Amino acid sequence: MAAAKEHSNWSSKWTFIMAAVGSAVGLGNIWRFPYEAGQGGGGAFVLMYLGFVFLIGTPVLVAELSLGRRGQLSPIGSMLKIAKEEGRSSAWQLVGWSGVLGSFIVLSFYSVIGGWTLSYIIQSIIGAFDGITAEAAGALFGTMLASPVTMILWHAGFISLTMFIVAKGVEGGLEKAVTILMPALFILLIALVIYAAVAGDFAQAVSFLFKPDFSKVTFSVALEALGQSFFSLSLGLGSMMTYGSYLKKDTSVGKSAVIIASADTAVALLAGLAIFPLVFAYNLDLSSGPGLIFVTLPIAFGQMHFGVIFGALFFALLVIAAITSSISLLEPSVSYLQEKTGYTRKKAALSIGFGTFMLGILTVFSFNLLADFTFAGMTLFDLFDFLTNNLMMPLAGMFMALFMGWFILRKNLLEELAMTEKWFKLWYFLVRFVCPLAIGAVFVFLLYEKFV
Ligand code: PFF
Repeated sequence: MAAAKEHSNWSSKWTFIMAAVGSAVGLGNIWRFPYEAGQGGGGAFVLMYLGFVFLIGTPVLVAELSLGRRGQLSPIGSMLKIAKEEGRSSAWQLVGWSGVLGSFIVLSFYSVIGGWTLSYIIQSIIGAFDGITAEAAGALFGTMLASPVTMILWHAGFISLTMFIVAKGVEGGLEKAVTILMPALFILLIALVIYAAVAGDFAQAVSFLFKPDFSKVTFSVALEALGQSFFSLSLGLGSMMTYGSYLKKDTSVGKSAVIIASADTAVALLAGLAIFPLVFAYNLDLSSGPGLIFVTLPIAFGQMHFGVIFGALFFALLVIAAITSSISLLEPSVSYLQEKTGYTRKKAALSIGFGTFMLGILTVFSFNLLADFTFAGMTLFDLFDFLTNNLMMPLAGMFMALFMGWFILRKNLLEELAMTEKWFKLWYFLVRFVCPLAIGAVFVFLLYEKFV
């Protein structure tokens, strides 16, 4: 239980919010959201995503943060401790296990994409985007994907940065970095949207993103939207639970969750508005998948005045946003390892970081050497992504909602959440009925769609 004592608290409410927003805002918003929206057919996907964020994600976020604050331990330790206190089965710790394992897997591929972002800072600085055509941008990205060595080196760079920060602890550099750089990314994103509005096909982008075409909706698209909302809000992996365990009693979890969800959604929508006008203007492939921003944005940076500076700055800020997320992905396993073994923070961060680095190599290979190695039509990267994003995260989130809604005394919830009666009732209704039923329904109908 050594880790519990080492837990330091966030120095102020504001820093907690910024750190949680830092965890939520990352590659999920800027890299993943646009390509998922592109593949999911646009408006209908976006509408489902928004519904999931506010009706399911936000109440689950309240649940996850408060479980962490009450448990004060790693996700596994917290779930076990609370289950015992409430006289419930110790099997609830499985939710924590799924989180620790899931965050480990997500970090392994997150770091590979973080590595792509790092390498694009350099590409921008050396002028690789100057006047680049759509084909050349595709080729530049393709060359990187084709080289396992390059990708492994950048992946190593990204995971090392993450380990270094986690090893140092939540206070110090991180807090400062988050409070200045997150707003900077936000401003740069707005500038990019303005550029895209002028230089690209804004009208078509807006209609693509906000005019739902319900003929494109299937239950697999619904599951993607559900998974994306959980990924973007950092839910179901114990990251928010670990952050909640550093949270002070006098901070309102409900208000924090609403702020986190709103900021996170704003960034995702801005990213969509920055990217799709260019996608349409240059006739790029809407469903090009994980490479979408890497083949779209260089064209814009290659054409604008001071594009070298803006490009480098954008990818640098994106790396920082990614790091404030990746540290929250490393936290659950680090806090568990510390709890179990009494390792120092540094030793735990280095051990887990090394493990995720090794696993990440499989993701690297899935884009080149093992590109043909598929499982049910999925490459290894697709498989890791599907397992975590579409299965582990929504299911763990569903069980967190069930646990809080049905297995903890109402009196204890009221005390922990300290919400007004009206808000509490709304939240309680959402976690008891809406979240489990909606998540359950997506899975049931998906199975039906696939197999019947
Ligand atoms: N929310 C992060 C993003 O959008 O990039 C990724 C993430 C962090 C997912 C932490 C899950 C998590 F537990």
